[in-house]
Amino acid sequence: MKTISKLWIVLLLTALALGACAPKAPANKLEAIKSAGKMVVGTSADYAPFEYKDEQDNFVGFDMDLIREIGKRMGVEVEIQDMAFDSLVAAVEQGKVDVVIASMTPTEERLQKVDFSITYHVQKSSFLIANDSSITLASPQDAAAYKIGVQTGTTLDDWVTKNLVETGKMPAENVFRYERADQSILDLQAGRIDLVLTDAGPAKEYEKNGQAKVVLTEKLFESGENIAIPKGETALKAELDKIIQELIDEGYIDKLAQQYGLE
Ligand code: ARG
Repeated sequence: MKTISKLWIVLLLTALALGACAPKAPANKLEAIKSAGKMVVGTSADYAPFEYKDEQDNFVGFDMDLIREIGKRMGVEVEIQDMAFDSLVAAVEQGKVDVVIASMTPTEERLQKVDFSITYHVQKSSFLIANDSSITLASPQDAAAYKIGVQTGTTLDDWVTKNLVETGKMPAENVFRYERADQSILDLQAGRIDLVLTDAGPAKEYEKNGQAKVVLTEKLFESGENIAIPKGETALKAELDKIIQELIDEGYIDKLAQQYGLE
């Protein structure tokens, strides 16, 4: 009897010791990222100067430099995954990526599915025309008279739909939606559409490269660009917000914006 109970005690202690050594599951996304030593970041690399690929297929741009610096300050590697812009929010929701940086602004619809960091940059919106076009726009509403290209699922897509189509100012078939932002410029150059509505930064870049001309720049939205974070991951949000604030205070973000010709 005595021996049996001793054996039980030994077994119990062993079990306890093993339990204490077993790796604990990370309590939240931030811990998971830190223990993996890697943050998986979704983007849509069709948006120079924010996120695009250079000739060697490296992900480059303002957002890419920014997220790598954030990763460095978190002490983790950054792995970029390129996907269609309109699948990015779902990728965060489903845990396919840890966060998204893609020149993305919070909208009511997106806020139902993901959380966002503080704003790291703001920009206006621009209408582009082909180099040989003579279209002029006195106001964004004047765009209703033309065929407009937008990237699918963007705020620009929403703006055209809500302000021009749903108000009856333009027929729905005059909105041309593109999965990749750069495809819209090809169609503009080919004369299949008259205008492209995009963020001011990329618009200026197309103009600088001689691919299209900016015809009107306006502030169409209140919100700026933020990093998308899985819902309820407050520790991760606090860490990202803290680092973004540091980078703003240090003037790092301003310098980076200048480097990429952004305002
Ligand atoms: N700022 C716009 C939005 O939040 C467009 C962003 C498109 N980004 C990209 N990487 N293609 O919807």
